[in-house]
Amino acid sequence: MKRTHHCNELRPSHAGQTVTLVGWVHSRRDLGGVLFIDLRDREGRTQTVFDPADLPKEVFEAATHLHAESVLEVTGTVRVRPSGTDNTKIPTGQVEVLVKSCVVLNHAAVLPFPVDDPEVANKVNEELRLQYRYLDLRRPEMIRNLRTRSKVAIATRSYMDEQGFLEVETPTLFKSTPEGAREFLVPNRREPGTFYALPQSPQQFKQILMVGGVERYFQLARCYRDEDLRADRQPEFTQVDIEMSFIDREDIYGLIEGLLKRVWKTALGMDIPTPFKRIAFEEALNRWGIDKPDTRFGMELVDFTDDFRTSSFKVFAGAVANGGVVKALNAKGLAGATQGQIETMTEYAKSFGAKGLAFIKVENGEWKSPIVKFFTDAEKAALTTKLGIEEGDLILFAADQWLNACEILGKIRLYCAEVLKAQGKLVIDPNRFDFLWVVDFPLLSYDKEMNRWYSSHHPFTAPVAEDIPLLTSDPKKVRGQHYDIVVNGVELGGGSIRIHQPEVQRTIFQDLLAIPAEETQLRFGYMLEAFQYGAPPHGGIALGFDRMIAILCGTQSIRDVIAFPKTAKGVDLMTASPSTVTGRQLRDLHLEVKAAPPKAG
Ligand code: AMO
Ligand code: AMP
Repeated sequence: MKRTHHCNELRPSHAGQTVTLVGWVHSRRDLGGVLFIDLRDREGRTQTVFDPADLPKEVFEAATHLHAESVLEVTGTVRVRPSGTDNTKIPTGQVEVLVKSCVVLNHAAVLPFPVDDPEVANKVNEELRLQYRYLDLRRPEMIRNLRTRSKVAIATRSYMDEQGFLEVETPTLFKSTPEGAREFLVPNRREPGTFYALPQSPQQFKQILMVGGVERYFQLARCYRDEDLRADRQPEFTQVDIEMSFIDREDIYGLIEGLLKRVWKTALGMDIPTPFKRIAFEEALNRWGIDKPDTRFGMELVDFTDDFRTSSFKVFAGAVANGGVVKALNAKGLAGATQGQIETMTEYAKSFGAKGLAFIKVENGEWKSPIVKFFTDAEKAALTTKLGIEEGDLILFAADQWLNACEILGKIRLYCAEVLKAQGKLVIDPNRFDFLWVVDFPLLSYDKEMNRWYSSHHPFTAPVAEDIPLLTSDPKKVRGQHYDIVVNGVELGGGSIRIHQPEVQRTIFQDLLAIPAEETQLRFGYMLEAFQYGAPPHGGIALGFDRMIAILCGTQSIRDVIAFPKTAKGVDLMTASPSTVTGRQLRDLHLEVKAAPPKAG
């Protein structure tokens, strides 16, 4: 028998019909000799009733021994449940199926963790869930995440198709181009000592596609980066990767706003307002201390450089005299922080390079702080007015070079928000999505330790046209035509208008990034050559697809929206990968392993 219905479909209107359901034993209850089995499939659950009066003895007997998650096919009659026994939590809760025949398609062994408990994700160690991912995936929440992912992928493809884009696949056996994150290498058996690299993104291929006249390209592209993993990073992940010819930044903003509108409508039925706000990098740092601001709450940074220029509090005046700034934020409602909590916060700030974290607690009408004794009335008045100081506030300061001061307080702002959330003093509507574009990034940033410039985005990003003359005279002032799309403090994606003139590209590589001519030729020679044969002006963007789905599903980690993710150590616990290989395989690849792998256990 084939199934006649899914387990979410039966209603009182089906009463009297003979139906066949297939699925897994979700739960089982034995009530006075009658057995109730909730059968579950991908779509939902239905209660089935095994009554010994209606069934051959051996069929009933077999049913009484079933473990949870065994696989059944049952045929029976739909009936309305006796009044008072409805289950209002599930759509089929008004009916049940009185079983006439049952085939056990497979028995399940005793489970490593229960699948029927909606709290599994909170109670069961994630490593166990990942080791038995096939059981974890049976949970309705995981099926819902995969369904959202699938629907959004399809909506993305149809939107991009409507906009005239071609989906083109690019190689995942690529060339090593050491820059950005560390790469995964693949040894080449045919030529000892040579390697492919897995691409960090299809960046170079998509630009070559523009030279190839494709004009509008997109791909749901798999990317690989061997970097330290966090909740929002995986070693392999998916991008919605896009490139277009003959366009400017406005075209990208319009395209992506349209795409996100479609995606939010598809996944959440929500109409998101467009166009999105645009915030310059400098303003984002000044106000929120980060280039991906979460604007769903205030606690903005306020500048006090001028107010403390001549202060007798030397920490502040000294920072200003050194060309730095003084910034502060008001964490409303946190005046109750204990000495220990302030110390923890100070240590946290120090881990980002802060020299200290001056504070004022406003309690019982008093400013409690080791530093207020140094402040003049005018300084106090400036603080009160600009920060709107009231009873219950905690004021925190950073005095440092501009970027450091902003970034330190930016971290502290997010830290305070978490504390306030935990205390119930900050409540954010889960259906609120604050989208914004961050624009006008500096083209280059300076690495003090390495004593050299590096690209803020990547070396293919075009400078803003009017800043090109500054490239040689004052590189730090050059803005890049780079944009990031941010939602609720998450960097959803980033891209840029590219350099399409080979001579500008060569200047960036050799003069600014100081890559020697020979190396430039080795690594990017083919691109520079391609650009000589009629490269159209072009630009693009890549959205982190996993991050987007995680935001839509409201999950804490992108692992919950990837069918088979890796742990923070980059391990696939289900297949136990990475693993060792045989001596024969190594010999074929002309490789020798010097360090012995750690012993298991
Ligand atoms: P970028 O490196 O900014 O740009 O990456 C674009 C987006 O990809 C997502 N992302 C990740 N998601 C999960 N795990 C990771 N390890 C990870 N790393 C990045 C982020 C990020 O915003 N080629 C350029 C794009 C372009 O210029 O067109 C690029 O890859 O959401
Ligand atoms: P000190 O005079 O070094 O004992 O510092 C007095 C207070 O100022 C302490 O609370 C320090 O944490 C804080 N502090 C020191 N340096 C800085 C700085 N650069 N920015 C902000 N606060 C600081």
